[in-house]
Amino acid sequence: MASGMEGEVGIPVKIHVNARARESDPMPGLGMLDPDASRAAVSFHATIPGYEPTPLADLAGLASFLGINRLWVKDESQRFGLNAFKMLGASYAIGKLAARHLGLDPSSVGFQDLTAEARNLKSLTFATATDGNHGRAVAWTARMLGCPAVVYLPAGTARARIEAVKSEDAEAVVVQGTFDDAVRLVASHSRERGWTLLQDTAWPGYEKIPTLIMEGYTTLVAEAASRMEGVSPTHVMIQAGVGSLATGIFAGVQEHWGGVRPHFTVVEPLNAAPFFLSARAGGRQPRAAEGDLETIMAGLACGEASTLAWSALGTWADAFAVCEDDVARRGMRVLGNPVGKDARVVSGESGAVTTGMLFEVCTDPRLEDVRRVMGLGPESRVLLFSTEGDTDPLNYRQVVWGEFFDSGAGPT
Ligand SMILES: Cc1ncc(COP(=O)(O)O)c(C=O)c1O
Repeated sequence: MASGMEGEVGIPVKIHVNARARESDPMPGLGMLDPDASRAAVSFHATIPGYEPTPLADLAGLASFLGINRLWVKDESQRFGLNAFKMLGASYAIGKLAARHLGLDPSSVGFQDLTAEARNLKSLTFATATDGNHGRAVAWTARMLGCPAVVYLPAGTARARIEAVKSEDAEAVVVQGTFDDAVRLVASHSRERGWTLLQDTAWPGYEKIPTLIMEGYTTLVAEAASRMEGVSPTHVMIQAGVGSLATGIFAGVQEHWGGVRPHFTVVEPLNAAPFFLSARAGGRQPRAAEGDLETIMAGLACGEASTLAWSALGTWADAFAVCEDDVARRGMRVLGNPVGKDARVVSGESGAVTTGMLFEVCTDPRLEDVRRVMGLGPESRVLLFSTEGDTDPLNYRQVVWGEFFDSGAGPT
């Protein structure tokens, strides 16, 4: 069902409850992902120079203000100095592909085994389309292995994100169109030019690489679980673009807390919400979001869901939510201005939307029915992922400083 609010103006969050989700208990495995994915992914990631688990902020002050029991936010601004979680997927997938290319055992290969053989990897060119974060991660990994990388970005991508890709020695190609257009173009150029397409979304016939990327993302849950001292979350809210992150998180949650199955909500921007639209349409086939997909949440501005992600989340996620851009702005401000002794989390537009949504749902009386259907209350223990830092520093400052900065008076 869609909770309240459909068509009401000014309501920042809408939710659709997935009636199919609890048809089978306990929590299901996701057929396509290795059930031990997070163990394999963590052991590979630990071999990458500079690897450290990112912080898990235990926001007791904010939890108490919101009337819930616990709130943890995983801070991905500190991932390998790259300001976003995306490295976890790109490095894992490239690592496995490079191992196969070299005739090494992908299940036991370490990053140093690959860098040692870099001269034999030069013939691989990695290509991808991205809003910025995934492309930077592909470019970083390719550079470490001595391979060329080509990164396609949709028109309107923030200059800082394009520069970040170029700073990793990749070729950056700006495409006139949306993220989905960039994916189609890079896929066709990769076929013509013999590049290895390292795309973080799946479609029929292109599934192995996105599966590896999703497995790579499970490290986020393994790291979080290792800091939570045996306490499990009752709620997980996760932001989605194409849905690979959400599926990787779901698989990690299943692996670590499947027995106590937390309530799982997929969160999208109102203007780019293929999961919400598909779930609301009620069929088994995914629906695309149309239009210009305009949102400040650049990492989530996707019109087409990964087919693998839809087949998993459409069946098992408990709820699909959509948020106005102001919800992400609220999350950025809240995380940047901690309560009491809480840690400060610098969180960008796509990173902060789930915190913003939790804040709205717990504080806005008009969202009482959303709070109820999600079962949020004094006993709730909520786990969120701030998936990026200030990857667009100019917009970050504009959002947190507001009108003063809009007048052009702030530092650049
Ligand atoms: C910061 C950030 N968060 C979340 C996502 C969503 O990941 P996915 O596209 O796998 O759903 C992205 C994707 O680029 C992102 O950059």
